[in-house]
Amino acid sequence: MNQELKKYIETEIFPQYEMYYSHGMLHIENVIKNIMQLAEYYKLDKDMSYTIASYHDIGLRVNRENHELESGKILNNDKVLKKYFNEEKIKIMKEAVEDHRGSRKERPRNIYGEILSDSDRDFEVKVLAKRQLATNIKNYPELKTFDEIFEQAYNYIMKRINKQGHLNLWTDCPIFVEKMRKFEEDFFNKDYTREIYRKEYERIASDGTIDKIKNYYLDY
Ligand SMILES: [Fe+2]
Ligand SMILES: [Fe+2]
Repeated sequence: MNQELKKYIETEIFPQYEMYYSHGMLHIENVIKNIMQLAEYYKLDKDMSYTIASYHDIGLRVNRENHELESGKILNNDKVLKKYFNEEKIKIMKEAVEDHRGSRKERPRNIYGEILSDSDRDFEVKVLAKRQLATNIKNYPELKTFDEIFEQAYNYIMKRINKQGHLNLWTDCPIFVEKMRKFEEDFFNKDYTREIYRKEYERIASDGTIDKIKNYYLDY
């Protein structure tokens, strides 16, 4: 891919994720890794794929609820990106970023939105535990015990299961179908999942991370 574009994103965009925990660079790097695999499989534009993965959560700094739309706006208004992409490509990327929310029921408007949405997933229970516990601790201060927090988190994911008993994927790349199958196999084993969440909870409770999640990091 274009190295100059990559450098720009690394120096100007990535530092903006520093104040985030579940949406920090660990998450962005995972999404980039996923999307580059999908871009390869579907023979899509690598520069566009890398860019949408990098910008997809950047709108959090403006507005938490509608961060997809804000991310789309920031991408659309970025003058530097216009050096690398024509108007048509910018529009496709803006729509892809706007459509990335995982709980969304309608199919994203273009293939880039589909690969972004499918890349924006945690395919490892451990990673999901880290991100979801943080989100719930911040969002639901009324949940006090580990069990309360865990049940809320577990049910949230289970509500996303479709009529066939599976979590949704927009794309059909075999690598991702297999990743999702493995994830479901692990996650649906509730005792196994609870243990992973419990270990993560004990870790963040004992090393001060919970305080940082509540008082320092900006994501929710
Ligand atoms: Fe997001
Ligand atoms: Fe994300």
